[in-house]
Amino acid sequence: MNKTRRRFLKSSLLGGAAVAAGCAPASETEQDHANEPSRPLDILILGGTGFIGPHMVREALRRGHTVSLFNRGRTNSELFPDLKLYKGDRNNGLQSLEGGKWDVVVDNSGYVPRHVADSARLLLPVASHYLYISTISVYEISPAPITEDSPLATMPDETVEEVTNETYGPMKALCEQRVVGEFGSDRATILRPTYICGPGDRTDRYTYWPVRTMRGGEMLWPGTPGDDIQIIDVRDLATFTVDCLEKRTAGIFNTVTPLRSFQMGDLLDDSLAVTGADTTAVWVDKAFIDEHKLAEGGALPIWEHPDGEYASLSLVDGSRAAAAGLKNRPTRETARDTIAWWKTLPADRRGNLRVGLKAEREKELLDLWHIRSGVRTGV
Ligand SMILES: NC(=O)c1ccc[n+]([C@@H]2O[C@H](COP(=O)([O-])OP(=O)(O)OC[C@H]3O[C@@H](n4cnc5c(N)ncnc54)[C@H](OP(=O)(O)O)[C@@H]3O)[C@@H](O)[C@H]2O)c1
Repeated sequence: MNKTRRRFLKSSLLGGAAVAAGCAPASETEQDHANEPSRPLDILILGGTGFIGPHMVREALRRGHTVSLFNRGRTNSELFPDLKLYKGDRNNGLQSLEGGKWDVVVDNSGYVPRHVADSARLLLPVASHYLYISTISVYEISPAPITEDSPLATMPDETVEEVTNETYGPMKALCEQRVVGEFGSDRATILRPTYICGPGDRTDRYTYWPVRTMRGGEMLWPGTPGDDIQIIDVRDLATFTVDCLEKRTAGIFNTVTPLRSFQMGDLLDDSLAVTGADTTAVWVDKAFIDEHKLAEGGALPIWEHPDGEYASLSLVDGSRAAAAGLKNRPTRETARDTIAWWKTLPADRRGNLRVGLKAEREKELLDLWHIRSGVRTGV
């Protein structure tokens, strides 16, 4: 088992036989359909009340579609009192869906191949299209750029159902296979997002950077301002998801900011611009990062060293999704709205970033860095 997924999820709190890759050729009927103005759809979302789900629900409702949810009623159950809820557990509890009928299904909550196979099999006769939210963690470490045709991670025992940092990626790859196995490549859409960020993100992996910047003072930044990173704003993902449903866009799509369009220096500039903070960036090099094991455990989320083993995770080619209509908003807007959302959270949550360097540790590291670089401490 490779380390790609392990590394990708290191800081996460959530969390094949190759699926026929690429945009499936649309049939004549489907092409006709794609050119028509979209009629209101009956959309079933498996999940819908976590982070990405609510953005998708709101976007679909805004466009006049009807949305139903399937979940256990545990997570943010107060969010959508007006939507029909099919209550159940993906683990052998799909009964409430029996007898239903929908135009399209969005699967946000599929981590276990058996669960995805069960829902796809049950829904095949009663829905025309299945959109599965996957991840770039499905990829093996491979040379950059990663495209939809890059090799996928595998696992020795495909019956394993425990989601860990190591099994997450290969299990998601198997889930993709199950969807296409039931619905076929012309009725299935697989979206592979990178770090999803923006208002509501529970992982803080992107949020850490603008929020820490807001605190001011000296701030440790890894590598150089030119190091590539990639994100996907949750609202852009939601818009693209609903676009795909309306057009029945089949195929596999990396959903990321465009290749080499966003660097750590841009993240710093965005963070400074939206917070107006008086923060001084101190860029530390790879030797220092390695010496203090900062590349592990979510201390420096999202960043990958350009010469490191996992550099290609920041170099994922999203041109296929862009050609299919994915639009990425300016990253500054993501930073602005993330900060605005963050300020609405209760104080105890705001005082407790889930990843990134804690203040004391950061100060200690900066002191060490200054001693090593022969620079006096104190700002
Ligand atoms: N966050 C990232 O950066 C990132 C990156 C790449 C891919 N992804 C993918 O994004 C998806 C997760 O997004 P999200 O959590 O924001 O989705 P979501 O749709 O917003 O929320 C998860 C939903 O799944 C439901 N659920 C969980 N376990 C269930 C079960 N056993 N049976 C029925 N329903 C269940 C939860 O409700 P109940 O608890 O009430 O059941 C909740 O509604 C995953 O597919 C993940 O692989 C995330």
